[in-house]
Amino acid sequence: MSTTASSSEEQMAELSCANLPAQARVLIGGLGFGFTLKRVLALTGPDAVVDVAELLPVIVEWNREFLHEVNGQLLDDPRVRIHVRDVYELIDGCGNERYDTILLDVDNGPDPFVQDVNERLYQKPGIERIKQALRPGGRVIFWSAHPDKSFAKSLQGAFRNVECIPAKAYPKAKRFTHTLFVADRT
Ligand SMILES: C[S@@+](CC[C@H](N)C(=O)[O-])C[C@H]1O[C@@H](n2cnc3c(N)ncnc32)[C@H](O)[C@@H]1O
Repeated sequence: MSTTASSSEEQMAELSCANLPAQARVLIGGLGFGFTLKRVLALTGPDAVVDVAELLPVIVEWNREFLHEVNGQLLDDPRVRIHVRDVYELIDGCGNERYDTILLDVDNGPDPFVQDVNERLYQKPGIERIKQALRPGGRVIFWSAHPDKSFAKSLQGAFRNVECIPAKAYPKAKRFTHTLFVADRT
């Protein structure tokens, strides 16, 4: 993570918020430096609810104490609900409180390193669970540091429409180094 390379995180927010209803329910995992959260808040209305799952308490503390100058007081926004939890637990436990969009930027992509158990987010049963946590017409986006044909195929097995969108790390970057996997539920 870097405070100077946030383009792909912001692009992820823009792709996820393109067609949201006024009372949108959004889930972001994880918080990181809050670039995705900041852009989501800019693109959603006052009645949106934005759940943010962050595994590491220290990341939430850094955002509150040190990142005001970078990202403002995002965590004080009344639309934001911070959960110091594994994002998979929120997805698995959401019941009928489903989401219009889910933004997953927790690892380098389908090769988890923060914790081994993150693998479940990229495997077929986890993908199916994510789909069930979306409202009809909902969208999930996975951030990845690289393309991955096999992961795209797994998504295509569950979702109506899947796109692998190249993304830049920063606006003037010459190359598209990251990939955003965008999947829409019927
Ligand atoms: C690359 S950063 C996210 C960057 C973020 N999109 C931004 O705009 O700054 C990844 C974050 O996900 C968190 N994380 C990793 N695994 C997680 C999980 N299973 N649930 C919730 N957060 C997780 C990490 O602690 C880290 O803060």
